[in-house]
Amino acid sequence: MESIWSKTWEMQKFPALNSSRSTDVAVIGGGMAGILTAYQLEQAGVHTVVLEANRIGGGQTGNTTAKITSQHGLFCSRFIEKKGEETARRYIQANQAAVEEYKRIIDYERIDCSLKEMDAYVYSQDGDKLRREVESAQSLGVRASFVEQIEIPVSCAGAVRFPGQAVFHPLKFISALAEKLTIYEDTPAKEVEENEIRTPCGSLRAEKIIFASHFPFINYPGMYFARMHQERSYAIALEHAGSINGMYIGDEDDSLSFRPYDKYILLGGQGHRTGENREGGRYERLREIGKALYPDSRLAACWSAQDCMTADYIPFIGQYASDRPDWFVATGFNKWGMSSSMVSAMLLRDMICGIANPWAEAFASSRFSAEELPQIMKDSGKAVKGLTKRFFHLPDETIRGLARGHGAVVETPQGKAGVYKTEEDQICQVDIVCPHMGCELAWNPDDKTWDCPCHGSRFDYEGNLLEGPAQEGIQYE
Ligand code: FES
Repeated sequence: MESIWSKTWEMQKFPALNSSRSTDVAVIGGGMAGILTAYQLEQAGVHTVVLEANRIGGGQTGNTTAKITSQHGLFCSRFIEKKGEETARRYIQANQAAVEEYKRIIDYERIDCSLKEMDAYVYSQDGDKLRREVESAQSLGVRASFVEQIEIPVSCAGAVRFPGQAVFHPLKFISALAEKLTIYEDTPAKEVEENEIRTPCGSLRAEKIIFASHFPFINYPGMYFARMHQERSYAIALEHAGSINGMYIGDEDDSLSFRPYDKYILLGGQGHRTGENREGGRYERLREIGKALYPDSRLAACWSAQDCMTADYIPFIGQYASDRPDWFVATGFNKWGMSSSMVSAMLLRDMICGIANPWAEAFASSRFSAEELPQIMKDSGKAVKGLTKRFFHLPDETIRGLARGHGAVVETPQGKAGVYKTEEDQICQVDIVCPHMGCELAWNPDDKTWDCPCHGSRFDYEGNLLEGPAQEGIQYE
């Protein structure tokens, strides 16, 4: 599956690290957050090196819907209630500043990345909820308004509008910034000890180290695996679907997101927790919905993305852990990766340059609130279930009974194994124990991958690592 972004843009290649080096700041992860942070630091005169395990923009940045917006669902009223008005204000101010900073950089660097300013909308069946959200957003200083009619073909009581947001082509943007940076691709960080990062191609010493690799792969300290879970969502690009002038997302479960790009409408939805897609059919359902909404449309691309979710829906941006003063982290973007990446870049730049930033406390990774306990307990329960499943759950498939093009956990003479039977009847058998912390992997029939229900690591059907926090692939038998 290839996103509309990678179908329409080829990223340049960067070399791998080939000796041991040193720098002021090392950024682990060449996605939007890593590249923007390196760019902001370089602009501030801090020499920064980016280490990317594969190719820059090859992870979530290449699979986003690329909405640059401070409107993160109907969040204002919820944040005021749960976190207090001051934290809610800081959160929205940081994200509004992020939207403006994208526009400034694109203008300043003259980047041709299909930037289009437009309004953002959240639609809902619940008109009272929408009106409450407008009041809350206005109380935080946002020029939000309620609109009764929207241009997309969904049933709703109206929508909350945030003016002056934007959309763009994320790979064209990141590609232009990358030209100005020191980047090593195909250079996975395997170990980090104090101020040294070890990779198979050499080590990098840095005064400060930033973990911007989507999900932090160091388990202790930090324990981010116990404070986040991952979710998957799906997107399609429709041609001949007409045009729209805004970006939209629904508030109800299973609602859809819409944005225009060039001659396409991008439709997103069908989300689920990673490792919980037993039945599959997500792409098909999205295609059917697209066809019903836009009968003349034609499918141009389909792809999926993965997001790290925090219990309080605020990212972790700041110091990695109290006993690692030189380590920093940017993660847990809760499906709002574009604005959160820019918030991370500005906040981490200020922290490293010793500049006080009023947003720091709201995003601090050391924060903890009792209200987050139920979600944390739920996530921990899922992790325990994933671990025990390995020992107590009996496979319900046999290799012989498996249809072509399908995968399942099966019983073999050596014990349980993960098997995918290709359309050509070839058997691809892997170990189904996740190398991160030992949970049993689950088959994802839509992407033909083995996904971990505990913390969201993913592997292709030959066992190669696709997403962390695991750092290694699984054994292909
Ligand atoms: Fe943590 Fe699999 S991702 S056990």
